[in-house]
Amino acid sequence: MMLHLAPLQGLTNRVFREAYFRHFGGFDAALAPFILALRGSEVKARHFKDLLPGPAEEGLDGSSRRMPLVPQVLGNEPVAFAETARVLADLGYTEINWNLGCPHQMVAGKQQGSGLLPFPGRVAEVLDSSCAIPGLGISVKLRLGRSDPEDIMRLMPILNDHPLVKVIIHPRLGTQMYRGETDLDGFARAAELCRHIVVYNGDIIDRASFEALRARFPGIDEWMIGRGAISNPFLAEEIKTGAVAGDREARLRAWLNDIYRSYREVLYGPAHVLDKMKEIWGYLGVIYPAEKKRIESLARVRTLLDYEVAVAGILGTRR
Ligand SMILES: Cc1cc2nc3c(=O)[nH]c(=O)nc-3n(C[C@H](O)[C@H](O)[C@H](O)COP(=O)(O)O)c2cc1C
Repeated sequence: MMLHLAPLQGLTNRVFREAYFRHFGGFDAALAPFILALRGSEVKARHFKDLLPGPAEEGLDGSSRRMPLVPQVLGNEPVAFAETARVLADLGYTEINWNLGCPHQMVAGKQQGSGLLPFPGRVAEVLDSSCAIPGLGISVKLRLGRSDPEDIMRLMPILNDHPLVKVIIHPRLGTQMYRGETDLDGFARAAELCRHIVVYNGDIIDRASFEALRARFPGIDEWMIGRGAISNPFLAEEIKTGAVAGDREARLRAWLNDIYRSYREVLYGPAHVLDKMKEIWGYLGVIYPAEKKRIESLARVRTLLDYEVAVAGILGTRR
C-alpha cells in the first residue's frame, strides 16, 4: 500500500515538505503543488525553485533518503506543457503530474484544471504531446467533473488510450470546491472504467475514515491525503503502523520549531513567516480541540515574539 502527500498550494512547499518528512513517517511520496506550464522563452529559473532537488534527509529510522517527489503542472496548451515537462525531465524527474482538478474560477474559467474536464479533445491534445517525451511518465489528478459527474466517464477512453503512470481521483466536482459530500459511487464507477493504477484522494481525516474507504474499495492500493495529514501529522504513520512512536507533543513541538526556523531563514520579514505559521495552525485546531480559543487568537498576533509566547501557551498547557 502506498500513501502520497497531496499538493496544497501555499502550504506543502519545499520548506514545509522537508521539515514534515524530517519529523513524520508513513508517506511514500509527495506530489508538489502545481507550477504553470510556460513556454521556454517565458521561463525563469525561479519558476522551478520549489522543485530543485534538495539534500537527502535523515529519516526517522536514521536512514538517509530523499522523499520521492512528483512535480505537478497546470496548463492546457500542448507546446507550453511539453516544454515545461522537458525542463522538469532535465532536472531529473521521471514522472510529472497534470493538474485537471483545480476548482478556482480564475483557473477553470480559462479551461484549465477542472475547467478542462468537459473538453476531452483538448485533454487528448496535451496528452498526445506530453506522453511522447522520452524518459518521462505522465500521471493525472482530476475530479469527477467540472459541474457534471459524467465528465470523467467521457474522458476515460482518452485517459485509457494514453500510457499514464497513474490516475488520481478526487471524487468531487470543481464547482464544489473542497466542500460538500464526496461522491463515492461516482469514484467506484470511474475506477472501474480506468485501466491505469487509480489513486483515491479526498477526506481521509483519521484512521477510521481510511479503513472505511479501504473496506469499500479493496482494489485500490494507493491513497493520497492532504488536509487530514496537516491537521494530524501522525495520520500516515498511524495508518501504516497502527501506532505512533514517541511523545506526540514533543514531536509536534520539534516539527513546528523546525519549520518556523526554516521559514525565518528563507522568507523576508516577519509578516510572511507569521502568515505561513498561522496557516499551519489553522489546520492544527483539529488535534487540539481544547485549545480552540487560543489557536484562534493566534490568527491575530502581529509579531514573532507574540507568536512565540502564544505557541508556548498552547503547547505548554499540554505538557
Ligand atoms: C489550500 C489548498 C491548496 C491546494 N492546492 C492544490 C494543488 O496545487 N494541486 C492539486 O492538484 N490539488 C490541490 N489541492 C487539492 C488537494 O490536493 C486535494 O485534492 C484535496 O484537498 C482533497 O484531498 P484531502 O481531503 O485529503 O485534502 C489543494 C487543496 C487545498 C485545500
